[in-house]
Amino acid sequence: MSEKFEVVVIGGGPAGYVCSIRLSQLGYKTACVDSRSTLGGTCLNVGCIPSKSLLNLSEKYHNAKNLSEKGIEISSVKLNLDKMMQNKEKAVLNLTKGVEFLLKKNKVTHIKGLASFKSNNKISVIVEDKSEKIIETNKIVICTGSDSATLPKVNFDEKFILSSTGALSLKSVPKKMVIIGGGYIGLEMGSVWSRLGSEVQVIESLDHITPGMDSEISKEFKKILEKQGIKFHLETKVESVIKKSDGVIIKSSNAKGKKLDFQCDAVLIAVGRKPNIKNLNLDNIGIQLDDKKRIKVNKKYETNIKNIFAIGDVIQGPMLAHKAEDEGIAVAEIIAGQAGHVNYDVIPGVIYTSPEVATVGKTEEELKKNRINYKIGKFSLIANSRAKTINETDGFVKILADRDTDKVLGVHIIGSNAGELIAEMALAMEFGASSEDIARTCHAHPTFSEALKESALAVDKRAIHS
Ligand code: NAI
Repeated sequence: MSEKFEVVVIGGGPAGYVCSIRLSQLGYKTACVDSRSTLGGTCLNVGCIPSKSLLNLSEKYHNAKNLSEKGIEISSVKLNLDKMMQNKEKAVLNLTKGVEFLLKKNKVTHIKGLASFKSNNKISVIVEDKSEKIIETNKIVICTGSDSATLPKVNFDEKFILSSTGALSLKSVPKKMVIIGGGYIGLEMGSVWSRLGSEVQVIESLDHITPGMDSEISKEFKKILEKQGIKFHLETKVESVIKKSDGVIIKSSNAKGKKLDFQCDAVLIAVGRKPNIKNLNLDNIGIQLDDKKRIKVNKKYETNIKNIFAIGDVIQGPMLAHKAEDEGIAVAEIIAGQAGHVNYDVIPGVIYTSPEVATVGKTEEELKKNRINYKIGKFSLIANSRAKTINETDGFVKILADRDTDKVLGVHIIGSNAGELIAEMALAMEFGASSEDIARTCHAHPTFSEALKESALAVDKRAIHS
């Protein structure tokens, strides 16, 4: 006999587990199917969470080694990579267990196994003992996330040729590391291994890093990372990645046609991610994909089959955990006949390097392209008292506001605590704030948040401290 549910959610990552909980809150008998032994998807198991643990500890290690110039002499700072990895695993375990608890608490049935479509309301799940379980349901939400993309003819071995998963679990610090791709993953993981002692070089095919980011921020970011010792090779095309017994050789050529070979102990391929739909048997039910092999959905997250929905990394939009979570809530509410909604104009993005980079809304390039008239307010952290006090003066805040209405259209921050500061700006934008609103809001002194206020004042050329 097959088990019956009102909604089956395939995938237990940020999209899937949040969606399952919200569905259950709304009164639906819900099952969440995931093939991993632990819940939380890429984000908790091999993405956001373990990387943030390593970013935090590698920064502490790096700072501890450099405290003497600030008057704290530590006679010896030693790295115990094994322990650092254990600490990371502990954080992952705590959080994945936490999600398991939340599903239980919310009466969501968690089924461990690999799901695929039998029909538009029958799902086959190959469970842990390899037996097949059939579940029936009225509605299905697909949130199977994404996998690391690679280059043609290059396979990950996770020892020498790494995806982000392998780069999070190295057993020793590579002497030389090459990173292909100057995006989120490349720069976060590059920072980790550079701080732990690797000589890091980044190969990027474009003429700038972090594509899609406001170009002024992107340029400043590159400069700061270079100061930290990371080397960049822009406009450089990788031609081959050859595994040798003792490392890897990467052959490439740059924009001037000059051939460049890189020899390294490990290469991280961070050239983006692709939707993970491979095991679902979507052909069985005829679900339509778009030109990038993402599941095509309408504004209500419905696929071309009316009782099947898709959210998160398998559909269009930035591959970010918080975007996926918000879609999880929205689709559950839409299923319940409510007005679930995600405002795609206000999705913050954060890179957890040091300093952090955080952005929300439109970039200057996008405003120019859309012929929107704008004003700019900028404030450098060199003039922020908190930043000065703690020697973290790299970076600036940039606010873009509509020239006629003063409505804030985008905020871009590079600097300490940028990832936390951006929340205030996202909230302001959700409320349709003008730069004047931010400028007139009292900000505590001395805090980094004062740089937001000063930058809002600077929109009308009346910053006080610059
Ligand atoms: P990405 O799209 O951020 O960056 C990929 C980079 O690789 C781009 O700069 C691209 O121009 C470059 N590239 C592509 N093909 C190349 C080639 N053949 N040779 C050299 N360079 C090449 O992708 P990434 O860093 O792999 O991250 C994947 C996804 O994960 C992103 O969508 C990102 O949003 C998400 N993510 C988010 C994080 C966060 O929120 N902090 C952290 C890590 C990942």
